[in-house]
Amino acid sequence: MIKRTLAATLRFRRRFVALVKINLEISVITIHRSSFGIAFDIDGVILRGKDPIGGSPQALRRLYGDSGNLNVPFLFLTNGGGIPESRRASELSELLGVKILPSQGNAARADKLKGAIPKEKWFIDLVDLFDFQICYLYENQLIVATGKGEPAVVMSEYGFKKVVSLDEYASCFENIDPLAQYKKWTTKQGLDTSSHPLNTVPRFDVSSETVKAVFVVSDPVDWGRDIQILCDVLRCGGLPGQENGHQPQPPLYFAADDLEYQAAFPSKRLGMGAFRIALESVFNRIHYNPLEYVCFGKPNPFVFKNAEAMLKQLQPSYYSDIFKEPGDSGLPSFKTLYMIGDNPSVDVKGAQQAGHPWFSILTRTGVFRGKHNHAEFPADLASQTMKLSACCKLIFINMMGSHVIDTVEEAVDYILGRECIS
Ligand code: G3P
Ligand code: MG
Repeated sequence: MIKRTLAATLRFRRRFVALVKINLEISVITIHRSSFGIAFDIDGVILRGKDPIGGSPQALRRLYGDSGNLNVPFLFLTNGGGIPESRRASELSELLGVKILPSQGNAARADKLKGAIPKEKWFIDLVDLFDFQICYLYENQLIVATGKGEPAVVMSEYGFKKVVSLDEYASCFENIDPLAQYKKWTTKQGLDTSSHPLNTVPRFDVSSETVKAVFVVSDPVDWGRDIQILCDVLRCGGLPGQENGHQPQPPLYFAADDLEYQAAFPSKRLGMGAFRIALESVFNRIHYNPLEYVCFGKPNPFVFKNAEAMLKQLQPSYYSDIFKEPGDSGLPSFKTLYMIGDNPSVDVKGAQQAGHPWFSILTRTGVFRGKHNHAEFPADLASQTMKLSACCKLIFINMMGSHVIDTVEEAVDYILGRECIS
């Protein structure tokens, strides 16, 4: 057991280090050392649905030099997910038109941008929070992944070998969803079934094997069906259709817990946190034990710690390996890391909990629309701050610790002004 655990742990560590090395190589070529970095929330700050908002393409372009080199290390810190990393990176590059070195050509485009985009933040969170325990616990175990997009593909790319999507899982149990016959749509719509072997069904005999853990990777599509089947799996010790004995509930993990988020529709939309409440309410009414679960994603401080580590890896080392003391990564710390978000209870709260060097900036293009300070997770008033001179701004911000402006473009303007970069 110890051997397997160590081997698995080392494998995951190697994978993580490999990613870090890729980023490091990119950073050496592309950026100078910076005393600050930026984490951008996506929904409600950079995009609404698939449309760029708040001058986000221009804002991101300002982080690159004239020659296309990245001047300011940045990454995207989003609670959204369900899309494999490489595809998300190229989607974002298309939507935002972030400038890259022409000599790198099209093939390098996605890879270079990938350097600015971390692995799914909640996975890094799992790794650091549990010191690889979740990875090696479930690496070869049957797990179910649900949510929009391709949750099983996402999980398999993180190293889970026996993962099935809830769509696939449901198809293995006749009549498990009595309403399926009334549904004029299918959850398989829009999936490119040729792109990944996980999109072919079925690969494991799930009708007789117990599910060891459930992961809600992204916003669930068919709440009614998912609540039904998750209640089955979680109440019956991991195998639907069994007698409800006193089997322990398989562990349940949520990638995030956002009650609401900003999508393309003018009003806020219900997020994964709303689904969690719905599932929990139903489960607790029909089961003798309350639902047990763990939520990752922002505002969990581990996410911010991981983001800081990723941003550091985008910086070049300040001295060679031979001068390093044992335990010294050789990577300089940041004076300030800016979190630009639209959701006070997720983005601002997360940055506040993470503490130094995080500095929260709240925009008004998404969940938060208030004229005045947010009561529980406060931010400054835009008009008041933006009219101040650069020197006063600094004093004001240092006193207040957080800041509200209208758009991400204003946020980047503000940051570059504060950091004395034209
Ligand atoms: O489903 C996406 C949502 O929960 C939030 O995404 O980018 O605002 O963290 P983001
Ligand atoms: Mg957001």
